[in-house]
Amino acid sequence: MKLLVTGGAGFIGANFIHFWLRRNPNDAIVNFDALTYAGNLENLRDVEKHPGYSFVKGDITDPIAVNSAMNGVEAIVHFAAESHVDRSIDHPATFVKTNVLGTQVLLDAALKNGVKRFHHISTDEVFGALTLEDATKFSELTPYNPRSPYAASKAGSDHLVRAYFHTYGLATTISNCSNNYGPYQHPEKLIPLAITNLLEGKKVPIYGDGFYVRDWLYVEDHCRAIELILKHGVAGETYCVGGMTENISNRQIISKILQLMDENMSMIEEVSDRPGHDRRYAVDWTKINTQLGWQPQHEFETGLEETINWYMEHKDWWQHVKSGEYKEYYKKQYQS
Ligand code: NAD
Ligand code: TYD
Repeated sequence: MKLLVTGGAGFIGANFIHFWLRRNPNDAIVNFDALTYAGNLENLRDVEKHPGYSFVKGDITDPIAVNSAMNGVEAIVHFAAESHVDRSIDHPATFVKTNVLGTQVLLDAALKNGVKRFHHISTDEVFGALTLEDATKFSELTPYNPRSPYAASKAGSDHLVRAYFHTYGLATTISNCSNNYGPYQHPEKLIPLAITNLLEGKKVPIYGDGFYVRDWLYVEDHCRAIELILKHGVAGETYCVGGMTENISNRQIISKILQLMDENMSMIEEVSDRPGHDRRYAVDWTKINTQLGWQPQHEFETGLEETINWYMEHKDWWQHVKSGEYKEYYKKQYQS
């Protein structure tokens, strides 16, 4: 099979390409990525020489580039997006352009090129926010209620994907997953930010009261879910994908990281809260479990230890990422 992976130079996309080529070595993958600040070809050094792998530098909002990359492609796995909530608060227009318009351009090209499956990677953030008090989780039936420009732009893209299924008959599937963590994640996100700051002897910024809850999914478990959806998922369907954590707060996560890295609580720094900060996310993954037999395999503690070890062993990788554009971003975001 020949796949077009968009955003394959980013965190989840790069993990997915490694995962797929390991398990499907005779397949071909075209990695289509604009190499924004979040795209890093270093993430793909290990697969560069694989005979089935190729890279195309291109922007998903450019119909000509997108059309020419689709030659002979049977399936698309669409990761490319602006993905960071804090950046969406400062620059919402970029999010609308890439996430909404970019997805529509890809859908159009997929239709024109007779692509057999379009799998769209979305987020649980489209469902809004839960409270700490209730025990509810997001599922495929939860109404959309996005609250950040990032979440709103991803919601827009999900609606377009469904519209192309219903209106034009394009065979689409969607997965709405929770917060991923693992190797190759950009240090702008909470877990790698905490680990790399501590490795640099810097404190870990915690927003507001720190009692915010996310559902944490190890990236390899996510890749396995995508593989199952591509191979056995039903066109027109949505699958929610979540991890094994239950109501673990940012404060508890940072404490765990401090403990695993032999640091103490004085390394936490309370900083201003994120505007419109969603209190809690939790994902009910019963549908993908019962219909496709998927379940996460990484306990949070094991996945976290593996992630810490990866960042300890790949200092060059993150030091390089942190030395570029990120330096300016960090200064502005954290006033330090
Ligand atoms: P990322 O920011 O690490 O990577 C995004 C990639 O997309 C980068 O390689 C970037 O260069 C590329 N890209 C951005 N704009 C582009 C454009 N206009 N044209 C082509 N390429 C472009 O993101 P990630 O964390 O790997 O997330 C991947 C997908 O998963 C996104 O769609 C995101 O919304 C979704 N998601 C992520 C998480 C998470 O925890 N990271 C959780 C839920 C859903
Ligand atoms: P993040 O990794 O940005 O993912 P998302 O906003 O998509 O959930 O943030 C995860 C949680 O950590 C979220 O509640 C915001 C919080 N957070 C901090 O407390 N400090 C930080 O420096 C960052 C980046 C996030």
